Amino acid sequence: MLEKMSDFFAARVNDYDNHMINNVIGCKEGYKKMAELLPGSVSNILDLGCGTGLELDEIFKTHPTIKVTGVDLTKAMLDVLKQKHPNQKLTIIHASYFDYDFGIERFDAIISFQTMHHFSHEQKIKLYSKVYSALKPGGNYIECDYMVIEQKDEDFYFKENERIRKEKNIVDGEFYHYDTPCTIDNQLKMLRIAKFEKAEMVWRKANTTMIVADKAIKFSL
Ligand SMILES: C[S@@+](CC[C@H](N)C(=O)[O-])C[C@H]1O[C@@H](n2cnc3c(N)ncnc32)[C@H](O)[C@@H]1O
Repeated sequence: MLEKMSDFFAARVNDYDNHMINNVIGCKEGYKKMAELLPGSVSNILDLGCGTGLELDEIFKTHPTIKVTGVDLTKAMLDVLKQKHPNQKLTIIHASYFDYDFGIERFDAIISFQTMHHFSHEQKIKLYSKVYSALKPGGNYIECDYMVIEQKDEDFYFKENERIRKEKNIVDGEFYHYDTPCTIDNQLKMLRIAKFEKAEMVWRKANTTMIVADKAIKFSL
């Protein structure tokens, strides 16, 4: 059974936070780890696929004055986020991050948590290029996601996804929920193709993996 991306999350919104914290190995620690990794100096961040804001729950504790723009496809998830943090500097955008204009050199840091494992290499490289342009020089992109080690595992999920989409006559570009985790090596390669000067894995528990990619400061003489 393949569900449209936003229908999938809307149908599960009531138990979503509990599920991520208690059933998905590494998430509980990963939300805290992301808040720790975010430099103390950042004041303006973009959260891609922010959902109900589990990573933001931790970030608001370590960075109480931070300004956040959160983008998500699922209105029901954003409604929960809004209720949780009525007093934070939070701008909520109900849109696909593939369409939303991030602007140029607008953010100190950009983050994503458990949302990128639904997309192809091609889609991600385009998105990471947009992320790179939207970061200020010296800014970081921090991604925590479901990643695998072996290429054969990545290939299996992508092939299955393709097979099911064909079977259901789903047109290209429509977002349906199916997990297609990439290998850590491929993730790092995609970020480098998108021009990040440095990208490395910094933390992993089970398949929950954190990557930090840096946009260099350019010095001109
Ligand atoms: C597993 S949830 C992660 C939510 C939150 N970051 C967390 O870790 O709890 C994935 C989220 O990504 C959102 N999402 C998926 N594709 C998206 C897209 N193209 N644009 C914006 N949001 C998207 C979903 O609506 C969902 O809220």
